[in-house]
Amino acid sequence: MSSACSVPVIAIDGPSGSGKGTIARMMASELGFHFLDSGALYRILALAAQRRGIALDDEQALAAVSGELDIRFPADSASEQVLLDGEDVSRDIRSEEAGAGASRVAALPGVRQALLERQRAFRQPPGLVADGRDMGTVVFPDAGVKIFLTASSEERARRRYNQLKEKGLPADYDEILADIRARDERDSSRSVAPLKPARDAVVVDTTELDIEATAQRVREIIKNRLNP
Ligand code: DC
Repeated sequence: MSSACSVPVIAIDGPSGSGKGTIARMMASELGFHFLDSGALYRILALAAQRRGIALDDEQALAAVSGELDIRFPADSASEQVLLDGEDVSRDIRSEEAGAGASRVAALPGVRQALLERQRAFRQPPGLVADGRDMGTVVFPDAGVKIFLTASSEERARRRYNQLKEKGLPADYDEILADIRARDERDSSRSVAPLKPARDAVVVDTTELDIEATAQRVREIIKNRLNP
């Protein structure tokens, strides 16, 4: 067994709006673990492609670019700061456009392969909380804790709608719901690493749970799995 494999990994997967980003960051911070926001890597790639004029279906060019991007997550896990070539792109990658672009580039096998080792390199002592779609199935299949957070598409659309309203941004519930369904469909039906729970994942439906109740449930799962 290589030394990296002895570093504990908590894989938290699920669709967007399930609360996994918030929960994963919270757990990393509470445990003092490193944090991998794998969705940010696909979002950054979509942004870089847009800036360099690379088509979002040009698999070869995108795979080549994924290998050379200078990406850094400089601050502690509670912060959402992301640097691309030294520039703070934290806000840019959170746009709806970058999210939709990320979902498209993430469907390309060559891109996923090119980002695989990059993601595994985040596994450093004392441990890692990894947030994504395929953390438990593909990137860290040997993770000691695998959690799949989900919620109904209507509830996830409602959360997104409220988030946008709180930020004073325009929001249309029906449009958001349609986007969520389209993205779920693309993420779940792609041939490589589709969005689905690992066989040994604990599935938590957060439709009826607020963030604190979800965090409590996730803490219990982590405690039981890390120290059985
Ligand atoms: O979690 P997010 O919304 O930031 O992810 C953006 C897109 O990236 C999402 O539509 C699916 C894709 N993604 C993926 O395919 N695999 C991951 N591990 C993380 C994200």
